[in-house]
Amino acid sequence: MFVLFLNAILCFPCAHALWACVRTCPTGCTCTHERSCSVLCDRTGLLQVPSEFPCEASFINLDKNGIKFLAERAFGTLPSLRQLSLSHNNISFITPGAFKGLPNLVELRIAYNEDIRYLHTRTFAALRRLVRLDLAGCNLFSIPDRIFVDLPALQELSCFQNHFRRVPGAIRGMENLTRLYLERNWIEAIAYNSLQGLGGLRSLSLQDNRITVVHAGAFQDCQVMEYLYLNDNLLHSLPGSSFEGLGHLKMLNLGGNSLSTVSRAWFRDLVELEVLYLDRNRIRYIEEGAFENLTSLVALHLNSNNLTLLPFSVFQPVYFLGHLYLFRNPWHCDCQMEWLKEWMESYGLVRDVPCASPSSVASGDLSTVDFHRSHEGLCLDPEELNFTMSSEAPSEGPPSATESKFSSLISKLLSPRAPPEEMANDTGGLVNGSLLDSLSSGVEGRQGNKTLSFWVFPHLLLCVVFSIVTRLNMT
Ligand SMILES: *[C@@H]1O[C@H](CO)[C@@H](O)[C@H](O)[C@H]1NC(C)=O
Ligand SMILES: *[C@@H]1O[C@H](CO)[C@@H](O)[C@H](O)[C@H]1NC(C)=O
Ligand SMILES: *[C@@H]1O[C@H](CO)[C@@H](O)[C@H](O)[C@H]1NC(C)=O
Ligand SMILES: *[C@@H]1O[C@H](CO)[C@@H](O)[C@H](O)[C@H]1NC(C)=O
Ligand SMILES: *[C@@H]1O[C@H](CO)[C@@H](O)[C@H](O)[C@H]1NC(C)=O
Ligand SMILES: *[C@@H]1O[C@H](CO)[C@@H](O)[C@H](O)[C@H]1NC(C)=O
Ligand SMILES: *[C@@H]1O[C@H](CO)[C@@H](O)[C@H](O)[C@H]1NC(C)=O
Ligand SMILES: *[C@@H]1O[C@H](CO)[C@@H](O)[C@H](O)[C@H]1NC(C)=O
Repeated sequence: MFVLFLNAILCFPCAHALWACVRTCPTGCTCTHERSCSVLCDRTGLLQVPSEFPCEASFINLDKNGIKFLAERAFGTLPSLRQLSLSHNNISFITPGAFKGLPNLVELRIAYNEDIRYLHTRTFAALRRLVRLDLAGCNLFSIPDRIFVDLPALQELSCFQNHFRRVPGAIRGMENLTRLYLERNWIEAIAYNSLQGLGGLRSLSLQDNRITVVHAGAFQDCQVMEYLYLNDNLLHSLPGSSFEGLGHLKMLNLGGNSLSTVSRAWFRDLVELEVLYLDRNRIRYIEEGAFENLTSLVALHLNSNNLTLLPFSVFQPVYFLGHLYLFRNPWHCDCQMEWLKEWMESYGLVRDVPCASPSSVASGDLSTVDFHRSHEGLCLDPEELNFTMSSEAPSEGPPSATESKFSSLISKLLSPRAPPEEMANDTGGLVNGSLLDSLSSGVEGRQGNKTLSFWVFPHLLLCVVFSIVTRLNMT
């Protein structure tokens, strides 16, 4: 009642007068009344908040002044005010209740007041309609856990470029929050409960922090999340269930970390993911089937890693991928990469796959590598071709060379990373009587001349190679 009465008194002169906005403009400011009353006081050298504003003001811009302090009810009573901007001032203290009298404020910007450092729990009391709050660049080390309890409508919170060491506890349970910007802080971990109750969150920016740890289930409450930025942190690994349940995620950025292996479990639930960034890591190995369920993927960024081979199997089952970025990796352009060359030629969606090895093709691009074929139709590596040609007659090859070929075969078999296909081909080059016969009859009947099909029968190849090992032992 009292508030209503007060409003009526204060606003009486302008309530019905269209041009009151301009007439009651604070000295030095510009006021316009095109649609609603905008008060433009930015860059006017103000050192404090003007004592009066037109009462029907709906937007006040006080950016880039030298305001140092906000007193209680700093703006009086402005029932029409929806946007207030105080960015780039020198505010060092905000009195609790400073924004009382602004019951319809929707957007409040206080970014880049570099001396704030501390905010009282009741700073934003009474802003029950506030939807957007910008506190970026304020050198805040933390904020009180209950500072947002009176902001039920808050949807967008910008707190980037502060000094938070953890995700502020204040955001827990804010079910109406849809966008949270926490990039460029000093956050070290995302705990299992850091994002508790954020059931409406759609976009979360955590890039450029110091995150080394993400707990299992850290994002489990964020079931409608669409954009997740975790790039440029210090992640060496992630729990298998990190992104569990994020069935609506469209973009995941894990670039610029120190990941060395891409786990098969990470992307299991990300069926709507369209863009995945894994660039600028130290990835050497991608587990088979890692991208298996990414059936909506349009772009995959794997550039600037330590990848030597990209087995076709990581992409199974095959789906359309718009763009695959592979540059800045030490690619080993042997027959295992032949599928990729064909893919590049067929779809033109991949470019820049520089070969670091084998030596005969190093410094060239995969697109220029010629894969030759043996008369069985098997792909011959650039190196292998050299070997085969120089020992054209099977029995003429020196036994020591054959033996070392076998031991490299076996070590490849035992190495978890060497895909079985490689061995099949290797053996193709060995050209020794029964071994070759048993191998090619075992493999060829089912697969024709497509090296790719080897992936389909790994168990078969294992059997074949196992029999080779057995024979070796016997001799
Ligand atoms: C803000 O305060 C600093 C000193 O604290 C001063 O050097 C600077 O000029 C002030 N900025 C403005 C816009 O008044
Ligand atoms: C979210 O918004 C609804 C409707 O505006 C409101 O009833 C609810 O209290 C809000 N939730 C929180 C946690 O503030
Ligand atoms: C792909 O999704 C199916 C069904 O949800 C699941 O059984 C399978 O394990 C997933 N694949 C991977 C690699 O996680
Ligand atoms: C890439 O891998 C090789 C050996 O596999 C290693 O020597 C090198 O340091 C790695 N590079 C990076 C950037 O991790
Ligand atoms: C390989 O397959 C192609 C068609 O895909 C066929 O024309 C060619 O004859 C095959 N080569 C061998 C050696 O089987
Ligand atoms: C095979 O490679 C060796 C070095 O690995 C090279 O000296 C030789 O000239 C090559 N032979 C052919 C036929 O290219
Ligand atoms: C080829 O296999 C036969 C036995 O099948 C063996 O006696 C011979 O030494 C092998 N040759 C080479 C080069 O390994
Ligand atoms: C052919 O043999 C070479 C020998 O090192 C191997 O690296 C390559 O993967 C093999 N190619 C196929 C298609 O098996």
